[in-house]
Amino acid sequence: MKTERLAPDDAGLARAAELLGKGTCVAFPTETVYGLGADARHDDAVAGIYAAKGRPAHNPLIVHLPDLAAAADLAELPDAARVLAAAFWPGPLTLVLPLKRGAGLSRLVTAGLDSVALRVPAAPVARRLLARSGLPLAAPSANPSGRISPTTADHVLAGLAGRIAAVVDGGPCAVGLESTILDLTGSPRLLRPGGIPAEALARVLDMPLDLRRVTDDTAPAAPGLMASHYAPRARVRLNAETPGTDEVLLGFGPVQGAALNLSETGDLAEAAAGLFAALHRLDTGGATAIAVSPIPDTGLGRAINDRLRRAAAPRPDGP
Ligand code: TXA
Ligand code: MG
Repeated sequence: MKTERLAPDDAGLARAAELLGKGTCVAFPTETVYGLGADARHDDAVAGIYAAKGRPAHNPLIVHLPDLAAAADLAELPDAARVLAAAFWPGPLTLVLPLKRGAGLSRLVTAGLDSVALRVPAAPVARRLLARSGLPLAAPSANPSGRISPTTADHVLAGLAGRIAAVVDGGPCAVGLESTILDLTGSPRLLRPGGIPAEALARVLDMPLDLRRVTDDTAPAAPGLMASHYAPRARVRLNAETPGTDEVLLGFGPVQGAALNLSETGDLAEAAAGLFAALHRLDTGGATAIAVSPIPDTGLGRAINDRLRRAAAPRPDGP
């Protein structure tokens, strides 16, 4: 299959909506990362996502929707969900909620769970595609399973060209890290730090939130959160003050000798936006070992460090 690169204009979005309507997979930009979308109501369409990514079938998908009303059709919305949606939707927050009976979603989307992960994206191209297609779009990050998430159409094509029908090229993603995932099936529980700092969620909920995310890899609360993930080919070492002789330095703040710097001024939003692109670049540049400067573990820094720890984790398939 030849993967089409579509412009984010009327013609491109019409073609993307047509392909989605036929049950094929189309990658599209959100404010966090590019997603690989398919009609969340149809088994064959959703199965196409798992096949293209090589994703284990026990790992459920996030459903992307235009607004809160669409969410209310699919899931029970506790008060906390309405409060958070009012504050952060559209935006990089995913809520795990009790699935409504008869919601009509493919069982493959929820991997058979009785909860569903929902998100209302903010990126204009994503919103126009949702409106144009009229479909709830199941969409994981548009990368081969276990690899670095894509923040440009080129990243998507580097990983999935020939395996998906099309990618809508909307330029680089503004946030650059995946959404924060909060489980609201019981008392609020952070499953993945992401584009909305957990401190901001706690403020709006007016309750303390355990900021240590769940990392029990034998029975992960979010089944996709296995230790090794976001993995470049190169080895990754964190909290490095100076690089070793075989390492290239991915800097943060005013450090000397960095091959790339996530933010010379120490700005976490800038670092988040450029993190995956930097890892992609060092990887395609042939680096065999990457040392990363220390990054403060607050706000967006928590999500950045989470992704870096996963990139540095031992790989099931070797070093
Ligand atoms: O920013 C994002 O969230 C991006 C863009 C495309 O929206 N999507 C994304 O999807 O990061 P993915 O598939 O890479 O990560 C989704 C995570 C997985 O770890 C999955 O296990 C978890 O959400 N998840 C999905 N449904 C769940 C559920 N019902 N209960 C617990 N975790 C769930
Ligand atoms: Mg992913």
